[in-house]
Amino acid sequence: MTNKISRLIKRMTEEPFPTDGSLYDLGDGNLYQTEDGYTFHTVGNVSLLQNGCSGGNELYRATLKAPTTTTNTKEIKTVSSSYDIFADIVGYTDIKKEFTKALQSVSPVGILLVGPPGCGKSEFLKQIAKAFPEQSLFIDGTYGSKAGIFDKLKNTKPKYLILDEIDKLKGDDQQALYNLMESGRLTKTTKAEHYDIELKCWVFATANNKEDILEPLFDRFERYFLGQYNDDEFKAIAVQRLKKEGIQDEELALYIANAVLRGLNRKNLRDAIRIARKCKTFAQVEETVQTMKKYSNLN
Ligand SMILES: Nc1ncnc2c1ncn2[C@@H]1O[C@H](COP(=O)(O)OP(=O)(O)OP(=O)(O)O)[C@@H](O)[C@H]1O
Ligand SMILES: [Mg+2]
Repeated sequence: MTNKISRLIKRMTEEPFPTDGSLYDLGDGNLYQTEDGYTFHTVGNVSLLQNGCSGGNELYRATLKAPTTTTNTKEIKTVSSSYDIFADIVGYTDIKKEFTKALQSVSPVGILLVGPPGCGKSEFLKQIAKAFPEQSLFIDGTYGSKAGIFDKLKNTKPKYLILDEIDKLKGDDQQALYNLMESGRLTKTTKAEHYDIELKCWVFATANNKEDILEPLFDRFERYFLGQYNDDEFKAIAVQRLKKEGIQDEELALYIANAVLRGLNRKNLRDAIRIARKCKTFAQVEETVQTMKKYSNLN
């Protein structure tokens, strides 16, 4: 594997530490700060800090500009583990942070991920639902029930409403969702039924097309538009993701990624995953890709 790819994987898989002036005790007697979240530089030693800020130690004041928190190695683990629920997702560190903040917020927040197929949108929702199974209601917009999302919401009263492919939801359901996000109330008035209940609900959603979402509903979300991966990102993600499919050999994983990119002329991780599940040698990958190529234009 090229150094470039390994550097990229390293960068994409490691969460940066906060760059807010926090002080880090890495256990060697020195105090550190970081400006980029990855590299640390010494800014004094632990004993100075232990003397206390109010002690007016000159060196401490001169070298440590506006420290906001002190952190020891134990706390460093806590900081990084706050994004752990998204550990299976490669990259998107900034978006992981925003989800983490939203999940910890006191009042409801709505986040919508919009983007092309295969860019990891649903993976975010799956990880949230997995981490909070009791509090989450997962609805796939493509399987909207006849009763719509009302009844499910009324029966389960989830804290987190997780909506995959919100753009596929029926107009009525989009309207109900808008009302919920706007008022914090779930209301329904039909001949058969009437209710108006309070529901404090965080909504996390995905969509391929913003055009199919009611404008007022779209407006209630904090939106993140994800683009298609470039070739290097695709390869780096494939190497990580295919480990979950039992491909530990990074050369083989890269070979599969390249076969999808160059052989099939696609940038679809789902193709890479399917091939990885079936093929465990270079020859098997080659054979499968040749067959896929041969029959790829029949439809
Ligand atoms: N950044 C990533 N890290 C790890 N796995 C990823 C990443 N991006 C995509 N994948 C994997 O690729 C596959 C497709 O991703 P996902 O289902 O999240 O796509 P999507 O954006 O929801 O696409 P669609 O619009 O077609 O539903 C999944 O198996 C997912 O695990
Ligand atoms: Mg999806």
